[in-house]
Amino acid sequence: MLSVDDIKTKPIPAHVAIIMDGNGRWAQKQGKDRIYGHHQGAESVRNVLETCGEIGVKYLTVYAFSTENWKRDAQEVEALMSLFIHFCHAEQDNILANNIKVQAIGDIGRLNEECQQGLYQLIEKTKNNTALTFVIAISYGSRWEISRAARLIAEKAKNNQLNVSDIDEDVFSKYLQTKQLGIPDPDLLIRTSNEYRLSNYLLWQLAYTELYFTDVLWPDFTKEELLKAIDDFQHRTRRFGKTNEQIEEKLK
Ligand code: IPE
Ligand code: IPE
Ligand code: MG
Repeated sequence: MLSVDDIKTKPIPAHVAIIMDGNGRWAQKQGKDRIYGHHQGAESVRNVLETCGEIGVKYLTVYAFSTENWKRDAQEVEALMSLFIHFCHAEQDNILANNIKVQAIGDIGRLNEECQQGLYQLIEKTKNNTALTFVIAISYGSRWEISRAARLIAEKAKNNQLNVSDIDEDVFSKYLQTKQLGIPDPDLLIRTSNEYRLSNYLLWQLAYTELYFTDVLWPDFTKEELLKAIDDFQHRTRRFGKTNEQIEEKLK
């Protein structure tokens, strides 16, 4: 069994992003309501957050609710929002005690008042914390984020505050929410529940991220599962388009 100490002997991914999937199937497998699965899923978030703190991960971004998830039954959406509000209140002390800074990406304006309040309160109270940044992607969709960036850029160009010929990858990325909040691109992406897709998550930012898929359903994703994913990451070679020889030369 892997331990935190084993993992700490090798480079730790600075930013881990997770698509927390499989809550509904987990619950249905035991004849329970999907909502029950979401409640258990919140426990996994707690565990993963704690383990990331122990290991020294600097950023953890979790996909809590996508722009497409608004299409689910109103009852499920409402239950997810209530659970989120509860999470914000219940975890506040723990988050503060562990020096965790909370940030959020997504179309936050679509959330109900209470959700927005819970979220902004957590962000405000933790803004000076420095150990780990916990990014909640809620009402988030990458295509929404990218079109928003394009809109902001067009507006600037229209007002002569930006030259069209100056728009390059660096300039463009500055208008993405992640860059605006100072969040680097993820090093490792984990998706649970045996699904092999990105579901509109961080499409720009994941360009060179290492991908890890597991059939474990999110409520069963324990500390050990996270260590397994990081151990797997630690055995990869990231070339960023270069050759192995070039990478080895740089390490000398
Ligand atoms: C992930 O679990 C949580 C959210 C998308 C909010 P799901 O609710 O997608 O669970 P499955 O995929 O239906 O099992
Ligand atoms: C992705 O899971 C969104 C979140 C985990 C919040 P989904 O369950 O919504 O994704 P699809 O629909 O199976 O691709
Ligand atoms: Mg799902």
